[in-house]
Amino acid sequence: MRHLMNPLDFTVEELDSLFDLANDIEKNPAKYAHACEGKKLATCFYEPSTHTRLSFESAMLSLGGQVLGFSDAGSSSASKGESVSDTIRVISCFADICAMRHPKEGAPMVAAEKSSIPVINAGDGGHQHPTQTLTDLLTIRSLKGQLGNFTVGLCGDLKFGRTVHSLINALVRYPNIHFIFISPPELRVPDYITDMLQERNISYEEVIRLEDCISKLDLLYMTRVQRERFFNEEDYVRLKDFYILNKAKMELAKDNMLILHPLPRVNEISVEVDDDPRAVYFKQVQYGVYVRMALILTLLGITCE
Ligand code: NCD
Repeated sequence: MRHLMNPLDFTVEELDSLFDLANDIEKNPAKYAHACEGKKLATCFYEPSTHTRLSFESAMLSLGGQVLGFSDAGSSSASKGESVSDTIRVISCFADICAMRHPKEGAPMVAAEKSSIPVINAGDGGHQHPTQTLTDLLTIRSLKGQLGNFTVGLCGDLKFGRTVHSLINALVRYPNIHFIFISPPELRVPDYITDMLQERNISYEEVIRLEDCISKLDLLYMTRVQRERFFNEEDYVRLKDFYILNKAKMELAKDNMLILHPLPRVNEISVEVDDDPRAVYFKQVQYGVYVRMALILTLLGITCE
C-alpha cells in the first residue's frame, strides 16, 4: 500500500506516468467515469479549505466513487481529544482512501503509519502540499511541453508557503532549473531549502523587487501571504500587499511566461491580469482535478483499458 506525503514519494518516471494518465483523463473522461464505483474517499480536513477539498471530492465523483468527511476540526472527534492515529483507524473502516489536511506538520504521516488505507497529505502546516505540486507540475508540463530548462520565479510568502516548499523540492529533480526567490526579507525561503540547493549545486538568487527580475522568468509562481501562520497581525498587515502583480509589471515579462498561483488569491495579482493569456491559475485548478483523479486511481491500483 502506498501513501503520498511528499512529492518525492514518486520517482520522476512514476510522475510521468501519473501525468500521462491525467492527460488521458482530460481527453477521455467517459473512459474513467465508473472506474471508482463502489469506492469511497474520506476527506479529513482539520484546517479550512474549499479549493483542495472540493477538488478531491470532484475528482472522486468524476470517477464514479463516493465521498464522506469533515471540513473542520471543530466538527470532528479531534475536538473531544481523539488523536489522528485513532481517527485514521476509524476512517479506515469507512473509506478506501483518505485525503488529510492538518495544521500540524507531519500529522498525515503519523496517520499513515496506523492506516490500513492509502493516505494523501492534502497540506500539513507550513510543510508540504504534494497534490498542489502535482497540479503545478501537470499544468507546466501540459502548457509548456516539458518540465526542465526554466527560470522559475517564486514570489510572496516563501517562508510559510507550503506550496512553495513542495514545488521547489519537486523541481530540483528536473534539468537546468534556475530559481529566483522574490520575497521581503522577513518571508525568505527557509534555510533548509537554500542549504539543499547549495548541496545539489542548483542555482538560485534571492531578490526583493519583482520588477527587477520578471523579464528573466519563464514561470512566475505567485503566492498569498499566509496570514494564519503569522505570530502577530501587525506584521501581516505590513507585509500583505508587498507584491501586486498588475498589467504594468506584466509588460516587462516574456510573451510566453506563465503565471501560476495555488489560490486563494488575495491582492497579490490584480484582477486586471486575469484576462492575460499568460495567466493560467484558473486552468491550473482544472488540472488539479485531473491529477487528483490520476492519483486516486494510482493509489487504489485501478487501471482502465
Ligand atoms: C494553498 C494551501 O492551502 O497551502 N491553497 C491550496 O491548497 N490551493 C495555498 C494557500 O492557502 O495560500
